Amino acid sequence: MINERYSPAALPALVKDDRVHRDLFVDPQVFDLEMANIYHRTWVYVGHESEIRNPGDFKTTTIGTEPVILSRDTDGDLHVMVNACRHRGVTLCEEAGGNQKFFVCAYHGWVFDSAGSLVNVPEVEGQPPEFSPAEFGLTQAAKVDSFRGFIFASFNEDVPPLVDHLGEAAKFIAMFADLSPSGSVDVSSGVTRYQYEGNWKQQVENSMDGYHAAITHHSFFDEVLQARIGRSMASIVSGSSPAKSVALGNGHSLIDFRDFDRKAILGADQPKSEVDWHNGVRANLEDHDYAEEVIRVNGGDGFNLLVYPNLVLINNQIRVIQPVANNHTEVLAYPALLEQVDEEINVARVRAHEDFYGPASFGAPDDIEMFKRQWQGLSRSPSMQWLLYNRGLHREERGEGERYSSQVTDETAHRGIWRRWVELMTAEVQT
Ligand code: FES
Ligand SMILES: [Fe+2]
Repeated sequence: MINERYSPAALPALVKDDRVHRDLFVDPQVFDLEMANIYHRTWVYVGHESEIRNPGDFKTTTIGTEPVILSRDTDGDLHVMVNACRHRGVTLCEEAGGNQKFFVCAYHGWVFDSAGSLVNVPEVEGQPPEFSPAEFGLTQAAKVDSFRGFIFASFNEDVPPLVDHLGEAAKFIAMFADLSPSGSVDVSSGVTRYQYEGNWKQQVENSMDGYHAAITHHSFFDEVLQARIGRSMASIVSGSSPAKSVALGNGHSLIDFRDFDRKAILGADQPKSEVDWHNGVRANLEDHDYAEEVIRVNGGDGFNLLVYPNLVLINNQIRVIQPVANNHTEVLAYPALLEQVDEEINVARVRAHEDFYGPASFGAPDDIEMFKRQWQGLSRSPSMQWLLYNRGLHREERGEGERYSSQVTDETAHRGIWRRWVELMTAEVQT
């Protein structure tokens, strides 16, 4: 039975403007409700078109904790299918990805095609005469749609159109894609995976957290960069940075570094490969002002974007957050390559990815250590009930996105995330 505290009427009392109750992180019942009310109610990112370019290409992933196969069928259409055999539920596909026309169940041999249709049942004469294979195709997501190569799916038949859901976030996804002179990034170069003992919302919040960077990543911003380029970059992530914390609406949010003049700080000459790349961007985009805006995004580090609930675009990276249990989270980080640029541009992007996000890097391990310590503190301390989200509440402004703050260390983005959390968790009808 659901704890009455988590009913739609009672739940908002646990999320105040400036604080959130710790049980929303640690209670397994809340996690189960999130899987139903967030991950099965809204759009969830499932993959990028460049991962499944050809008919028969597929990858396995999850929507919340539900395993799915994202496939491109022989006609080129996209499908998101539950990865469980319609006979008796055996996991159909154990592979991370590949290309095949059929998925064959290892238990009794039922065969499904790349569109999810049941196309062969061994010894079918044993089924009753009224058995109709057409009724036993794989269970499919109600909606699948893509925006600029980013594929989203929803189990909710009544979910609003994807572009409405993306809202203000769409512009930033487009800018991320338009960094590539082809207008589309390439996500085929592999993935860095990590797991931590802790809740999925820790990584979501951390991805939008401008407050921690100068502290948690002190060794990178102060020392590594000092040794490499002769300057500390701590000013990017301090309270005096020209960056902003922005709630875009629908839980989507942004750390906006676009006003940070990286070249003025670094004094970097622009290599020819970069000049060629930027000219390629200009040639691809008819709107010249927009082209210059895209170029100003500085190769991808102009903003950190959260597309709620599970996708983050950050620097060169596409980060996917996969909840496993209330105390277990998996994160997949894909370096996004650019198309139609000199190889050295992409080599530099992969090196930068390894540098901060790789398993032996200067960035991600620090965050993962904080997730672990945060979980230890949160999960063992029921006497410490409230977590604070009050930074910058007094100077939050309206006008850019839903709300914004011109201090990157403010928690404006986090408050927007929690407003959406309440909206989805308490919706009477599906939204
Ligand atoms: S469970 Fe798949 S064929 Fe029986
Ligand atoms: Fe971090």
